[in-house]
Amino acid sequence: MTQRRRLLVRNIGQLTTVAERSHVEAVGPLGVVERAALVADEGLVTWLGPEAALPEALSDAAFVLDAEGQCVIPGFVDSHTHPVFAGRRAREFAARVAGRESYAALLARGEGGILSTVAATRGASDATLDAELRARAATMLYYGTTTFEAKSGYGLSTRDEMRSLAAIARLTADFPGTIVPTFLGAHAIPAEYRGNSDRYVDLIVDEMLPECAPLAQYCDVFCDQGAFTVAQTRRILERAATLGLGLRLHAGEIAAIGGAELAAELGCASADHLIQITPAGMEALARGDVVATLLPGTSFCLAHGHQAPARDLIAAGVPIALASDCNPGTCFSENMQLAITFACVNLRLTVEEALKAATMGGARALRLHDRVGSLEVGKRADLVLLAAQDYAEIPYHFGVNLARVVVADGRIVATTHPALPTSGM
Ligand code: NIG
Ligand code: FE
Repeated sequence: MTQRRRLLVRNIGQLTTVAERSHVEAVGPLGVVERAALVADEGLVTWLGPEAALPEALSDAAFVLDAEGQCVIPGFVDSHTHPVFAGRRAREFAARVAGRESYAALLARGEGGILSTVAATRGASDATLDAELRARAATMLYYGTTTFEAKSGYGLSTRDEMRSLAAIARLTADFPGTIVPTFLGAHAIPAEYRGNSDRYVDLIVDEMLPECAPLAQYCDVFCDQGAFTVAQTRRILERAATLGLGLRLHAGEIAAIGGAELAAELGCASADHLIQITPAGMEALARGDVVATLLPGTSFCLAHGHQAPARDLIAAGVPIALASDCNPGTCFSENMQLAITFACVNLRLTVEEALKAATMGGARALRLHDRVGSLEVGKRADLVLLAAQDYAEIPYHFGVNLARVVVADGRIVATTHPALPTSGM
């Protein structure tokens, strides 16, 4: 007889569900249940509540995880990452922090920056791309990210964008969490189209998008000064929509050129960065119910002192997500716990707003909020057992990994707990 794949997490001191629907015993904006237990069957949450109310029949589990009175939160949903690349740009970072060249100046020069990663990525074998991507995905899991969006965008040719998306597809086949693939062929104007950006847009629209669309769920464009104009972004996203892709864009990382307004007009799931955004842009996002994905690790690493106006966005009624932007140029970090620290300290989000933005907010930005982002009966059993007694320790005890055990699809997938085996990926 095959045993039902049941996991029981017991002795949870503080279970933070981040559930939208109110739970009888839950308190506060994050739906916290004290002295709780959680049961998952076949990868889905089937029961959660105060441990004292745990039905006898559910305590028979194939695997019991004792939380030892610590916190459990939903797995992080990192809705904006660029994890498929080869090469490093540590010297670019060093020059930037030494005040020698800003990111905007690098972009204006049209060489180095993204294009140096493009050269390294084009020159890497499929095996190297796989290994680089898998290493990043394993780090994400280890820090508690169980769902992430993965963009292409360092190929910038049909062949190399396809290779990047194919690497994501190979990882997806055996990753225990959820991966959302995004086509970002419009990440930069490749060297061979320099001064001829409309011809590159023709290539994207006529050839790259039709070939890449089957391997992607979303299309993204870097709509900014020094990258793609609003008119070019519109052409690309409108074509992507006809191929059945969801839409998202990078806007206002350098300048407010109208990307936010375009995102609202085209029904994008999310507009990301928004360090520069006008009041009209904020109103448009609110009206269009476009998620504003904030990437405070990028502001930190760009070291220019500018931050997205998170409090104004919230006041304008724009839904917020928090993501890492993990990429080799502007923010090389897979760590969502650190993103929460930056959000609280630099964007002035409350701890509750930041934790919600890093879980349900990301799930909304990926339109996966029915499946991930909170711990609720029927949703995926993706969770993190923290070495902490209160979720407020996440931003407070920063620069270390507080994830003790990470569960995805109801299985332990990463652990720093000495008594548990690491099952790995
Ligand atoms: O989100 N701005 C565009 N893309 C990335 C940076 C990519 C890079 O510099 O390699 C970002 O910041
Ligand atoms: Fe980005």
